[in-house]
Amino acid sequence: MTGQPIPVIIDCDTGVDDALALLFAVRHPGLDLRAVTCVAGNTDVDQVVRNTLIVLDHAGAGDIPVARGAARPLIEPARSAAHVHGQDGMGDMGLPASARTPVDVDAVTLLRREILASPRPVTLIPTAPLTNIALLLRTFPEVTANIERIVFMGGAVAVGNATPVAEFNVWHDPEAAAILLTAGVPITMYGLDVFERVQVPAADVQRLRESAVPRLKLAGDLLAHRDPAASGDPTPTGGLGDAGAVCAVADPGGLTTRLLPVEVSLAPGPSRGQTIVDRRPRHGESEIHDGAREQALVDVGLDVDVERYVKLWLETVEGSASTDSGAAPA
Ligand code: BDR
Ligand code: CA
Repeated sequence: MTGQPIPVIIDCDTGVDDALALLFAVRHPGLDLRAVTCVAGNTDVDQVVRNTLIVLDHAGAGDIPVARGAARPLIEPARSAAHVHGQDGMGDMGLPASARTPVDVDAVTLLRREILASPRPVTLIPTAPLTNIALLLRTFPEVTANIERIVFMGGAVAVGNATPVAEFNVWHDPEAAAILLTAGVPITMYGLDVFERVQVPAADVQRLRESAVPRLKLAGDLLAHRDPAASGDPTPTGGLGDAGAVCAVADPGGLTTRLLPVEVSLAPGPSRGQTIVDRRPRHGESEIHDGAREQALVDVGLDVDVERYVKLWLETVEGSASTDSGAAPA
């Protein structure tokens, strides 16, 4: 690692793979995790806060401030992803509550405070619906002066998951995603096209699950929960999911991006929440006849070095595992 660590803030809906992202961000020496903000998404926002505090314990994090944010999207009702993440949002492992507590300010206030207080511009990493970020940008637009980049997990160039064309984080709050895209700061879209590809091999998942170190056992169990194959497989592989977006901040060279116009479909109906990425080599009839519309330019993730990110994530999270105690996290 060269230079000072990158100041980052994660806005999440922990969330099995948000947990994998947090474990990595806390342990990576090149990242300075300055705060974590929580939003409704995979589960309700109070459960997101509980899960986040538990994960920070396991990660061995210092006193990182955690704040509760929006309880529902700007317009839509909250719609959880319990069928993917379990009733508690983190795989229903029955983990005991943390002794940590969230700060006594809301997520937008904490985001503003930490961004403006940072001596160097902050990289924001939303791995959840963009509600908190949209509220921040509309309430305190001056924060953009101290934001280096926003690397968000969301959207899809090709295929969606919440709908055939819409990815969950954008679909959950499309208006918020539209506000994010026009923030006027550099943005990287770590969408489903790359998100789905980064899978940890079964042997690594198994090794982690058998570890006596609580953070590694948790990491293995979380990964096993993300096995794309049939559940019940004794040696499951596991997708890094949101953690890949944090890898893209720590090691941008592993992600191939292209600066492309991106627009969120806000129309009611089957396209709502779709990220429409314009990959055409030239303007079409629409622009020729009706004129070009102004659209946000976003660095869209189109390819990812899977082995590189899996290795990076494993080495970072396992780190000095041999010197860790097997005791329960503080
Ligand atoms: C996204 O939705 C959530 O289920 C994951 O945590 C990820 O942020 C994928 O569509
Ligand atoms: Ca998430």
